[in-house]
Amino acid sequence: MKPRFISVEGLEGAGKTTQLQVVTDFVTAHYGPPRVTREPGGTPLAEDIRSVILSPRTEPMDAWTELLLVFAARKQHVATVIQPALASGQWVVSDRFTDATYAYQGGGRQLPWEHIQALEELVLDGFQPDLTLWLDCPAELGLQRARQRGALDRIELEDIAFFERCRKAYEKRAQAAPQRFVRIDASRSLEEVSAQVRQTLEQQL
Ligand code: TMP
Repeated sequence: MKPRFISVEGLEGAGKTTQLQVVTDFVTAHYGPPRVTREPGGTPLAEDIRSVILSPRTEPMDAWTELLLVFAARKQHVATVIQPALASGQWVVSDRFTDATYAYQGGGRQLPWEHIQALEELVLDGFQPDLTLWLDCPAELGLQRARQRGALDRIELEDIAFFERCRKAYEKRAQAAPQRFVRIDASRSLEEVSAQVRQTLEQQL
């Protein structure tokens, strides 16, 4: 069977870390251990770019700079980690991928959708996950959980309206690609969310 590329998306505090483990366990049991990775990051160089993106700083970062940095990190990640793993027959599970750019730079920063599409086409040539699990919860709930975890990064310092726009952009992505992009109600209990994730994997893979 052709190896698949699965991404997990959601606002901060949506429970991505727990559900990534659920996905990893499922894939391991059925298809062998996947390459588990994350964005921005996933390679030493891309992790360096991640810290540039996320470190709080006094100089404001232009939204386009942010957009180009996430795509720079992504290109390195896809070319040196994701595509080689898939080519060798290994499944890949990523904590976020391009949908996060539509959510955060498109929704949150309000950059034009079509420019992100153009950049995606240019840099990735149509490459996208086979399946995306979107852990959806109200921005307020997610932020409350994220704030309990401690120090906030540069993006977590944004206001609630920013995360509400990100959530709406995820919704738009889900509507545009209902086969690939599955919404999971992440405001329910951990057991219920994990059960829905497993059920989705059984149905879709
Ligand atoms: P997280 O992976 O710990 O949730 O943090 C990554 C942060 O980076 C999160 O706030 C979302 C943000 N991000 C973007 O703004 N654009 C992107 O394309 C990606 C992958 C992440």
